[in-house]
Amino acid sequence: MRNGTKTIALALFVTIGLATSDLGYAHDAKIDERLTDSTSYWTNQSGSTMALTFDCNGSQPGVCQLSGVYVNNATGFNCQGTPYPLVGVYYINTQTVSWSVAWSNAFEDCASVTGWTGYLSFSSSSLQLVTYWNLAYSTGGSGRAIMQGQDTFTQNPALSSGSLLKDSGDK
Ligand code: BTN
Repeated sequence: MRNGTKTIALALFVTIGLATSDLGYAHDAKIDERLTDSTSYWTNQSGSTMALTFDCNGSQPGVCQLSGVYVNNATGFNCQGTPYPLVGVYYINTQTVSWSVAWSNAFEDCASVTGWTGYLSFSSSSLQLVTYWNLAYSTGGSGRAIMQGQDTFTQNPALSSGSLLKDSGDK
């Protein structure tokens, strides 16, 4: 390849690269806009649901405080079917997230707590939260343990807060 052709090829490569990264940034920013300062509803692969409220107007720029409720519907676990408060944090620049639920409410106390950590992803035309979790619990005596696993949550735009419970009239 002659030097002139090489220069043109390099210039094209750089221009296309910059244009693509700009598009990527704009796309990501749009994802954040759909969540920040609003409540969104999510369901994981085990049928558990949560309402997440993103408060991005706090003292730390780029950091959103998360609050909401989590309803565990995963088989093989206790504390199912009623809402538990959740708290967490979302980092806008990295689109990473972390939240926790203490499994104690007016209906049931499982003496346990779960923390999820992961990232926001745009896949199959929907928003997903891809996470790993740790569930720490005490059996009441000297027995303590930590279980680990993976959860992927898909945003469900059709859910309202009233439909977070499978049958909200029962709880
Ligand atoms: C317990 O059994 O001690 C409390 C309920 C734990 C439910 C776990 S948390 C991680 C996983 N994802 C879910 O949606 N449910 C289970």
